[in-house]
Amino acid sequence: MKVLVIGAGNMGLTYATGMSKSKLLKKRNIMVLDKSKEKLEEVGKIAHFDAIDRLEDCVPQADIIFLAVKPYHAEDLFKRMKSLVKPEQLFISIMAGVTIKYIQDALGITKVVRAMPNLPAQVGQGLTSYVSAEEVSRLELFMVEGLLDTTGKSLRVKSENYIDASTGISGSGPAYVFYFMQSMMDAALQMGFSENVSKVLVSQTFTGAVELFNQNNLTPDSWMERVASKGGTTRAALDSMKDNNVGEMIKEAAFAAFNRAVELGEEY
Ligand SMILES: NC(=O)c1ccc[n+]([C@@H]2O[C@H](COP(=O)([O-])OP(=O)(O)OC[C@H]3O[C@@H](n4cnc5c(N)ncnc54)[C@H](OP(=O)(O)O)[C@@H]3O)[C@@H](O)[C@H]2O)c1
Repeated sequence: MKVLVIGAGNMGLTYATGMSKSKLLKKRNIMVLDKSKEKLEEVGKIAHFDAIDRLEDCVPQADIIFLAVKPYHAEDLFKRMKSLVKPEQLFISIMAGVTIKYIQDALGITKVVRAMPNLPAQVGQGLTSYVSAEEVSRLELFMVEGLLDTTGKSLRVKSENYIDASTGISGSGPAYVFYFMQSMMDAALQMGFSENVSKVLVSQTFTGAVELFNQNNLTPDSWMERVASKGGTTRAALDSMKDNNVGEMIKEAAFAAFNRAVELGEEY
């Protein structure tokens, strides 16, 4: 099985690197195409990829084509690819907002999987939600899941609407966590800790809380109840967050991302 990754940006290379570890592929079975010569030179230095700069030299040979260019490059790319693609090829797109129907119509093919990754894929801790066209077989979906799982976890959703919804939670979510981390680091600095110490205090607090959450069957609400005793320090902090409506604001932010994903999808 040969996989072609189109677009050697952050995400394209993350998946190419992840997939190179998959048992489903042999090392030299990953081709990477980009229009930037500099990026291809970098890719060429990575032993197991074939770096290619012409669609004619890679699209016809591929069994799976991974689309990882920015959405605004899709139209031009598809025009140039259309005469080279074959109906049996499987397309996996991670382009935000680009619908399955748009890809099917623009390329004249049917087998499309639309996926939404997130940034921690770069360190093998990503969450990729995905949905497929009905023409994609069970066996093909099994392969897709195996490839997506090489960058973390994958989650199959019922419809493209859930891809937009997962954009609001896991897709954009790492930035919400960074926002929270930055605020806590700012507070630590203001309390007199150095930058390095602030970083350790905050990062280990996040890692520890997530680990507790993952290893037990309690909701975040239950954990808050456990840790906040009446009249104590944690209760003072949680009361302050409640008074300031922080929870509602985070929900609103997630919905802003969801709504924006829906809006972007209307263009394609
Ligand atoms: N980054 C994330 O966290 C994230 C999350 C979810 C979804 N995504 C999706 O992932 C996709 C890739 O994002 P990215 O951040 O990796 O983008 P990126 O860094 O811009 O990488 C895209 C690469 O594709 C190249 N390219 C553009 N048109 C091409 C063409 N016709 N043929 C060959 N190569 C072409 C670009 O070259 P030039 O630079 O020369 O244009 C660039 O090197 C996007 O569609 C985005 O919506 C990203």
